[in-house]
Amino acid sequence: MSDGELESLIARARELGEVAGGRIAAAADLPALENERVAWLGKKGEMAGLMRRLGSLTPDQRPQAGQVINEVKEAISGRIDRRRAEFEKAERSRRLVGEKLDITLPGRPHPRGRLHPLTQAVRDIVGILRDIGFDEVRGPDLEDEFHNFEALNIPADHPARDMQDTFYLAGGGLLRTHTSPVQIRAMKGRKPPLAVVAPGRVYRCDADQTHSPMFTQVEGFMVAEDIRMSDLKGVLELLLQRFFGKDRPYRMRPSFFPFTEPSAEFDILWEKDDGSTSWLEVLGSGMIHPAVLEAVGYDPQKYTGFAFGLGVERFAMLRSGVDNIHAFYENDQRFLRQF
Ligand code: PHE
Repeated sequence: MSDGELESLIARARELGEVAGGRIAAAADLPALENERVAWLGKKGEMAGLMRRLGSLTPDQRPQAGQVINEVKEAISGRIDRRRAEFEKAERSRRLVGEKLDITLPGRPHPRGRLHPLTQAVRDIVGILRDIGFDEVRGPDLEDEFHNFEALNIPADHPARDMQDTFYLAGGGLLRTHTSPVQIRAMKGRKPPLAVVAPGRVYRCDADQTHSPMFTQVEGFMVAEDIRMSDLKGVLELLLQRFFGKDRPYRMRPSFFPFTEPSAEFDILWEKDDGSTSWLEVLGSGMIHPAVLEAVGYDPQKYTGFAFGLGVERFAMLRSGVDNIHAFYENDQRFLRQF
């Protein structure tokens, strides 16, 4: 075999190396570069073709030509790697620019929910009473005549039992007309001394600007030896001052409830938008009637107690200046967002 074949093979290898260098430099993107890699270094590529030609050389010529071909292959492969690194770097900086965060843009607001004004009022009232030692309990909305009326000393002919005030149910039950039945349930399960607060919904056949067929009350009561009317007044004064602020005028006036004796109602001064004022009744109260203590098995000679039941909607209306009770139940977002 002539030296001519060796020389021509080596020359061809170097020449192809040059051409490859130019093509790699000209590749416009990563896919084009990959095409070049296949064309030069692939199994069916140019360099593989040269390797096949080694067979036509003598055994002592082959290493020499093989070495040159390998050098050219390595050079091509190095060029491709560098070019790929260039593309990747350019791609990275392009993405960095494209994905840049403008931290001066205003954030997206996430609207937050809030408690309904009645829930807020219940929590505030119950919280004030818990702070001074009252236990919170709950009773059922669905009641019976015994707990809602009889045990509370409300006789069968009392007008409160009238169908016009009370929602009676087909099975004989009724929707509680006040939270006072919780007094009976709580006292039966405990022994004095006790102080209990019981929030809940109550129901009456009644509807106008300040009445709704379903509304919310908080019942509170305390039974021990030697509880007096002054304890009632002290607790309620503290409750009103903490809820409405110290300067809100209130008055206490005599009243009547079958389950308390004596009884008193509390009014809060309502300052209307037109500047006029009037007193709005917010709660009923009194010293627990001996007949009620007897109904739950307490000795009325030994124990005395006071009780009160307040209207949460009235509390919330007077605190916020809302003058229509129905606004609390209509779920109008414009109304609710104000609280
Ligand atoms: N239960 C009475 C009502 O709903 C309020 C009240 C409760 C009065 C406790 C006295 C004592 O009007």
